[in-house]
Amino acid sequence: MSEGVSKTHEKARKFQAIKGVRDIQPPETELWNRVEQTAREVFGTYGYGEIRLPVFEQTELFARSIGADTDVVSKEMYSFQDRDETGVSLRPEATASVCRAYIEHGMQTLPQPVKLYYTGPMFRRERPQKGRYRQFYQIGAEVLGGSDAPAVDAEVIEMLMVFFAKVGLDGATLYVNSIGCKDCRAKYVELLRAELRIVQGRLGADSQRRIETNPLRVLDSKLESEQSIIEKLPRIAEHLCLECAKNYADVKRELALRKIAYQENWRLVRGLDYYMRTTFEITAPGLGSQNAVCGGGRYDGLVELLGGPPTKGIGFAIGEDRLILSLQESGQGKAERGLDVFIAWMGEAAYATAVRAARTLRNAGVSVELPPAAQKFGKALGQADKLGARFALILGEDEVASGQWTVKTLADGTQKKMSQQELLAVLGRR
Ligand code: HAM
Repeated sequence: MSEGVSKTHEKARKFQAIKGVRDIQPPETELWNRVEQTAREVFGTYGYGEIRLPVFEQTELFARSIGADTDVVSKEMYSFQDRDETGVSLRPEATASVCRAYIEHGMQTLPQPVKLYYTGPMFRRERPQKGRYRQFYQIGAEVLGGSDAPAVDAEVIEMLMVFFAKVGLDGATLYVNSIGCKDCRAKYVELLRAELRIVQGRLGADSQRRIETNPLRVLDSKLESEQSIIEKLPRIAEHLCLECAKNYADVKRELALRKIAYQENWRLVRGLDYYMRTTFEITAPGLGSQNAVCGGGRYDGLVELLGGPPTKGIGFAIGEDRLILSLQESGQGKAERGLDVFIAWMGEAAYATAVRAARTLRNAGVSVELPPAAQKFGKALGQADKLGARFALILGEDEVASGQWTVKTLADGTQKKMSQQELLAVLGRR
């Protein structure tokens, strides 16, 4: 059918959101907003500014940063050819974009470090399940440039834990590890590969493949039959070079200084290639197998890999969907603002007063529902109840004539006469 021709004769068809992708609706969005607002406030107190990044970038940016052999890049990206043949991908994460932006805008000339945070959707074509979506949301923060002192790592983690506490997340557990620098890690990876080859026959297909592509990822395996084998593998903590070992000890000391409880997890290697030294993850209750609400770590060298100057980097990303789920499961998730006033009006004179009253109340920050057509008071009050309004403002001829409005408290059914000023005062007190 050519453009401009009416499609009204086509058969109606219903659509559904694509698998793994969902709508987030009110009142749940209230909770999302509260979580994001808390992040803005907390991150602001630590000196972070917000960066808004594009949702798609050149595929090559992600392949270089995250690693071509990682699951994220090799299996999970939504990639397509743009009309000019550029290979582009929906972002599976945002650290690569932040580094790209740091270089593109010459941020190395700003006072260092540059501290940035972002919020927004990320895209990975994973198998959908509870807490795992193909479009999901992250709240992330990155510190670029400046020092790589262990205090920087610890402060990033401190900020995260302060945020989780403020948002009301109970039972979060922080896991930390060090995966060394490129020298000691390379030696460890070779040792690990050699050990894995010995037990190869007892491993599953994924791990067998990873022996060659990325042996560290074998440590991530959740396969029951591999657990006892993995537990006997050499541990990176015992193979860190002197500097990395000292750095790891200092990071832990800095955490202790800040009274941040943590557990060490030598198998925490993370699924993205850019990490070095400190890695960390936070799990939360109520999420089943997808219980990581946050992952992060240090990535000195990534900016350089992307054509920028040698630059230190560390950051994290919180999985907002999972954080919200965990808050809801623990009963912390009720952020409904609710309706303050429902205006039940009857008659033309009352309508004019109702329109003015609605505007005045809303101006004062009170939420108001004003029905567009007159209703019998009984029906209007029923609707006010259904909407969960706290008060019904009843405006009929008497009220308009006297300027004394009838205000009904819906919770207990009591009724009072009051002026607009008094009503505003009552609502202000709440
Ligand atoms: P990541 O561990 O891949 O790290 O993701 C961070 C968090 O995003 C995860 O802990 C999880 O909560 C959430 N997440 C990941 N995939 C999904 C999904 N399919 N559905 C729902 N939630 C998901 C990164 O993305 C790094 N960029 C973090 C970072 C920043 N490292 C340094 N700076």
